[in-house]
Amino acid sequence: MSNSGEKAFYLTTPIYYVNDAPHIGHAYTTVAGDVLTRWHRQRGESVWFLTGTDEHGQKVMRTAQQNDTSPQAWVDNLVESAWKPNWHSLNIANDDFIRTTEVRHTERVQRFLQGLKDAGHIYAGKYEGPYCVGCEEFKLPGDLIDDKGEKLCPVHSKPVEIVNENNWFFRLSAFVEPLLEHYRRNPEACQPESARNEVLSFLEGGVSDLSISRSTFDWGIPVPWDRDQVVYVWFDALLNYATAVGLGDDPSSEGGKKFAQTWPADVHLVGKDILRFHAVIWPAMLMAAGLAVPKKVFAHGWLLVGGEKMSKSKLTGIAPSEITDHFGVDAFRYYFLRAIPFGTDGSFSWEDMSARYTSELANDFGNLASRLAAMVEKYCAGVLPAPSNDPGLESFLTATVEKADAAICALDFQGGINAIMEFCKRVNGYVTEKQPWVLAKDPANQSELESVLYNTAESLRALAVLLNPVMPATCEILWQSLGAEKVLGAIGNQEIGKVSTWGQLPEGAIVQKSAVLFPRLEVGE
Ligand code: ME8
Ligand code: MG
Repeated sequence: MSNSGEKAFYLTTPIYYVNDAPHIGHAYTTVAGDVLTRWHRQRGESVWFLTGTDEHGQKVMRTAQQNDTSPQAWVDNLVESAWKPNWHSLNIANDDFIRTTEVRHTERVQRFLQGLKDAGHIYAGKYEGPYCVGCEEFKLPGDLIDDKGEKLCPVHSKPVEIVNENNWFFRLSAFVEPLLEHYRRNPEACQPESARNEVLSFLEGGVSDLSISRSTFDWGIPVPWDRDQVVYVWFDALLNYATAVGLGDDPSSEGGKKFAQTWPADVHLVGKDILRFHAVIWPAMLMAAGLAVPKKVFAHGWLLVGGEKMSKSKLTGIAPSEITDHFGVDAFRYYFLRAIPFGTDGSFSWEDMSARYTSELANDFGNLASRLAAMVEKYCAGVLPAPSNDPGLESFLTATVEKADAAICALDFQGGINAIMEFCKRVNGYVTEKQPWVLAKDPANQSELESVLYNTAESLRALAVLLNPVMPATCEILWQSLGAEKVLGAIGNQEIGKVSTWGQLPEGAIVQKSAVLFPRLEVGE
């Protein structure tokens, strides 16, 4: 992180359950977080991006039992063999990865819990009611669906279990009014609007206190003052966002300084399935501890399979590699954010992805890059001619950068990517209109030809920088092909705020053909 004193833009993803390997739903959230944090880095901000794994609770414990292994061995294996490699192969540039079985987490959770107890926010009680292990959630009778007398979780379509235990309770009900006030005053604190409305009406309906410990199994963090109980998995898991950055550490220690630089989180990115945990329970926990609440909880929609949420539990997950093997990693990162408005449900469609790959990525973007390199090679011996400008292209670019920046900072990835791809189309239109291949036939047109090639190269420079957060590997290749790195430095250091300054590529830059950015798709698949 640069500028160590400055408050970082701090973004988190959910920490995923390691009952199984990741599917494209998890990748959807994490890629979105990666694109947003890369964008903020390119805005010149200091950034902290956290992801990780949620390893306690009955869901993980039972999966391990079913596989004849211990929960610890199960999670160690899956994290190392499936989760971390998956993020690596999707080019996720997280700054930290937290596992809830790490000591840095468990110790801080226990200290936090003891603090709440000492402050009177926790009391002993008895819990009796339905629980869904798939959701790891205490359910209200009204939440359930009735299947011939059997009560099912509406998310997992599986019977709920009845819990009857003496537990420790958190006085959640005391925070209903402060939370309502918070969301009424700060509409940006819960987005999109549909999520905010859901949270407001949930809070308006009243909320009971929350059981925050379990006594019938031991795969969890021991309650510090009662070793017969383990901390309820969500109470443990939510704290990851703060334990990972030094929650409760002495302000002069490394952890304390990190906390001051990152807290409160700027964005907790989550799927809408876990909105209430993040927008009700989590800020209430923070309020109880006298800590600042997150600036924004953003709940995106679901990737659906046959009209239902794609899920590990239902075995409907598509592995990211099934898609990246065919389309490549960057097309995967691009597709979901481009095709589905962030906040709305959507389905993966092989046909739609093939169509967009070919028209938007291969034709509009990839071909533009390869045509430019081929023409500079053919007409200018591979050397970029002197700077030139085109007022039409320049003003289009200025407007594009403004639009894309506003949209992406508001997590409207589709709007941001659309704006950038509209500029790409505009540049294609410019080349088609100027017909450099016709200009090249008459030496009298040499200076106009050079001007068209320069303006096209500058446009590609801007496109590479703007698309870099979404498709970093491809944009790096383009950056090399434009000979930009020598003069302008690494692509990741190019600032969004300076993209529309025209004339950055210098005369004499060596432009070289690169590998095809988006190869033709193999047919018959
Ligand atoms: O809930 N569509 O973990 P989880 C879109 N451990 N996103 C999806 C998705 C889908 N079909 N399926 C999963 C947990 N996701 C808890 C979180 S946080 C303190 C603890 C994404 O493994 C989405 O982000 O069930 C969703 O909220 C998350 O994965 C749930 O992952
Ligand atoms: Mg889930």
